[in-house]
Amino acid sequence: MRYPTVLLAAAFLTVLHLPGDQPGGLKDYYHDYFPIGVAVSVRSITGPDTALILREFNSLTPENAMKMGPIHPEEGRYFWKDADAIVDFATAHGIRIRGHNLCWHEQTPGWLFKDSAGNTVTKEDLLKRLKDHITTVVSRYKGRIYAWDVVNEAVSDENSDDTTRILRNSPWFRICGDEFIAKAFEYAHAADPNAQLFYNDYNTERPEKRERVYRLLRKLVTAGVPITGVGIQAHWSVYEPSATDLRASIDRFSSLGLKVQITELDISIYPWEKKGRARRQDESDAYTPVLQQLQADQYKTFFSIFRGYRGTINGVTFWNVTDKHTWLDQYPVPGRKNYPLLFDTAGQPKKAYWEVVKF
Ligand code: G3I
Repeated sequence: MRYPTVLLAAAFLTVLHLPGDQPGGLKDYYHDYFPIGVAVSVRSITGPDTALILREFNSLTPENAMKMGPIHPEEGRYFWKDADAIVDFATAHGIRIRGHNLCWHEQTPGWLFKDSAGNTVTKEDLLKRLKDHITTVVSRYKGRIYAWDVVNEAVSDENSDDTTRILRNSPWFRICGDEFIAKAFEYAHAADPNAQLFYNDYNTERPEKRERVYRLLRKLVTAGVPITGVGIQAHWSVYEPSATDLRASIDRFSSLGLKVQITELDISIYPWEKKGRARRQDESDAYTPVLQQLQADQYKTFFSIFRGYRGTINGVTFWNVTDKHTWLDQYPVPGRKNYPLLFDTAGQPKKAYWEVVKF
């Protein structure tokens, strides 16, 4: 007796416990929870990672292409090519896009803080530049970028006895005081009233910084500034943060009625260091089985927490695609290899991946 090929195939898949609706990637496992995103460059969406990106993710963040330096290199001149390529790719594949970012003290263009005579710009002029920049960029992608990191890393890392000191001593702060933050949100909201607008920062699980970020957010919310939520960057390590600290931050921020997104997730195999330094001679960068297990345990714990906050957390994004290329290979120790993601250097799912999708 001859069986139709389709029946044979179905029987085979049943024996292997591979039902036809088996999830295809992270985005499918997390379909009922939140979009799963990844930070990309133009290279990642045109090179060998493309198939993996399409299989695993349903949200993209341009890693660098939309930052003020790259996208607005001279006053009045924009460089759209890379940002457009990422937006077009995502749109063509029905993938949502997080814009990153509109106002930051790093990767700023050389002209931004100087007037034509080379002197520091006035507050009035700087706010006008900020408004022009945000209006132009947000308007261009209106309706296609669903969420923006509006202000990035404005809160100070320093624990000071002066509790009134919240913000980083950046040129934005020195020239404008704290006003630039609310203004940036207002300009973005005016350009695309439907976009979700985020304040985005790192080390937000550390109690002192958590408190400073909370106080900034509370001020914005109380003043009626159009802010949707807070981005917890999540540049973590196999040693931190603790589950308790992470929960405390999500609880504290969301108590203000704000959404939370995990915006730049990676789990370094090294302890956190802020300052860049040269590699020490005796420093190993072996990705040992112990480190792989520690990392898998961390990923398991964090995703279990994220799932518990479904509704409050409305997006989780990884910072880079596979361990073949991560910004952590250059920071804080240039040339020291790191392995912080869910896919190995060959693009295969790691032990940590299987912990993340097992629930
Ligand atoms: O594009 C230039 C290239 O023309 C030049 O020849 C080369 C020489 O150094 O530099 C290239 O620019 C680099 C750029 O990445 C693109 O690769 C910059 O040097 C380098 O500093 C820059 O690093 C980026 C970093 O932000 C800048 O601070 C990382 O890729 C990017 O992953 C990182 O992302 C940040 C988030 O935006 C905010 N949160 C922290 C996160 C990690 O630092």
